[in-house]
Amino acid sequence: MGEKPGVTPLPMAAWRREMRRDMGCGEVRPVHEGRVLTLAGWVHRIRDLGGMKFIDLRDRSGRLQVVCNREEVPADVYELAGALKSEYVVAVRGRVRRRAPEAVNPRLPTGEVELVPERLWVLSTSKTPPFELDSAGEVDESIRLRYRYLDLRRPEMLRNLTLRHRAYQIVRAYFDRLGFLEVETPMLTRSTPEGARDFLVPSRLHPASFYALPQSPQLFKQLLMVGGLERYFQIVRCFRDEDLRADRQPEFTQIDVEMSFVDADDVMEVAEGMLKELMAGTIGVELATPLPRLTYAEAMARYGSDKPDLRYEPAIEDVSDVFAGTAFRVFRSALDAGGAVRALRVPGGHVLSRKELDGLNEAARAAGAGGIAWMAVETEEPAGWRGPVVKFFQPKELETLAQRLGTRPGDLVLLAAGDPDTVSVALGRLRLALAGRLGWPRVREWAAVWVVDFPLLEWDEDEQRFVARHHPFTAPRDEDLDFLESNPAAVRAKAYDLVLNGHEIGGGSIRIHRRDVQERVFRAISLPPEQARERFGFLLEAFEYGPPPHGGIAFGFDRIIMLLAGAESIRDVIAFPKTARATDPLTGAPAPVDQAQLEELHLEVKPR
Ligand code: AMO
Repeated sequence: MGEKPGVTPLPMAAWRREMRRDMGCGEVRPVHEGRVLTLAGWVHRIRDLGGMKFIDLRDRSGRLQVVCNREEVPADVYELAGALKSEYVVAVRGRVRRRAPEAVNPRLPTGEVELVPERLWVLSTSKTPPFELDSAGEVDESIRLRYRYLDLRRPEMLRNLTLRHRAYQIVRAYFDRLGFLEVETPMLTRSTPEGARDFLVPSRLHPASFYALPQSPQLFKQLLMVGGLERYFQIVRCFRDEDLRADRQPEFTQIDVEMSFVDADDVMEVAEGMLKELMAGTIGVELATPLPRLTYAEAMARYGSDKPDLRYEPAIEDVSDVFAGTAFRVFRSALDAGGAVRALRVPGGHVLSRKELDGLNEAARAAGAGGIAWMAVETEEPAGWRGPVVKFFQPKELETLAQRLGTRPGDLVLLAAGDPDTVSVALGRLRLALAGRLGWPRVREWAAVWVVDFPLLEWDEDEQRFVARHHPFTAPRDEDLDFLESNPAAVRAKAYDLVLNGHEIGGGSIRIHRRDVQERVFRAISLPPEQARERFGFLLEAFEYGPPPHGGIAFGFDRIIMLLAGAESIRDVIAFPKTARATDPLTGAPAPVDQAQLEELHLEVKPR
């Protein structure tokens, strides 16, 4: 493999006991000076300086420099070293020595030492890899995934998977200590009500019948509570056939939790305790708990998102009152129509070019807002306002606005008027884009926050009915129960989402355990009793046998690891992920199957 024609194939050694490693390449230190060690690993890189060959030998523990000086090493070793190429696997026995002071590499843990080989064995050869490990960051991701086993040799991937491993151990130890039982729930099951599309598995024994892969263990964990387990957790694979993004995969891992005889505060306390231990145990960050909480309504108004990124300070302010008497037509008509005027202070925003400001306006329109008005605070004293709309405002209005927002010289202020939610969503998007563009300082590196009091139901335009926002077993808040029939949109849920640095990393709720309430919720989402029975009949039946009050949460494990690892995508913390198009370039999945296999499953594929 990989040798030039005409060149005698390298003698490949069978692995023998004498080649057994004494330690990892990355573990050799000055204390080992003078010792003869056997090491093994991959040839990371070779530099040939004519008469001197430097081989960087790499294994899981790190790298070590092996120096082959023609004058110093046996002739056969020198010759063999000359035939090595990147990613060959070798074993080497040699003496450790300190590097000359000018050759010390302070960036490598093994940078003070090197190995002078006495024996060298080639254990396997390698084709020229399709990409260089050191520059894999610039390689197209589909190539990295096609050769994932090579990609995994990179220190970044190893570091991510090591962190992931540490996290599993911490999570298991935490829940074990708190008396939770780890229970596995079925992978071949019935459709679960999480709202995405199911992956279906045809049944061979039951023609025209299908299992569904679980979108989450939701129904089973509730059954475990009826079963009296009281405290359950599971690190579990979930499957959802939905559109993918950087933080979404068709199969992903949840830390799934359910508890009996609890209210929302109890679940949240256990959940944030877990996050705290995870962060301390993996990256050494102390998270202050209890975590802050925002209501859904506050999060939407102030950050334009139900997953607010609180690493950045400026939030959206409602300034409708400042412009209550405004003559500016755009604001006037929005306010008269019952809308709002909202503002975002953009620290340092005066540097944005005209083109960028136009771009903001377009982005706001794309987010559904009519547009935005901008005003910059001059950097020179007296710090006046600059911008095309300044002339429409009274000095008093500008003064109150400046006070309310706490503007400083060099700031930009973005204003938008219209439907309050739409305006906030548009400003919220600009807030995040500008934080990145302007390099806003972070007031904290790790911003974890609970978002609570979600609406129980939301209106589905397509279906022309209310649907459950979380799932239909989420309990309404007691004080909102009476609106279930009269004003369903106003009913808040006993639901909570955990948000870390602008990513939803977990969500859960207290469940309905009273039959009368469950029936009212089914009615509110126009789910006829017979359909409810068909879909979740087994759960409803179980609830006729003494269900305890219960609730829980599920964390997106991959997302948490992505954030802790500082990775760009959850694909970087999953050993064998799918692409954004839900394919696996390595195995070629999904793939057609034999006709015989289809027939066995009683399936016929329609020609496209
Ligand atoms: P939910 O649907 O909010 O709740 O999922 C919980 C968490 O799982 C993560 N997540 C995902 N991660 C990667 N790829 C995906 N496609 C994906 N979808 C979700 C998110 C999310 O916060 N059964 C309920 C939990 C409960 O009520 O106890 C549930 O699954 O981080």
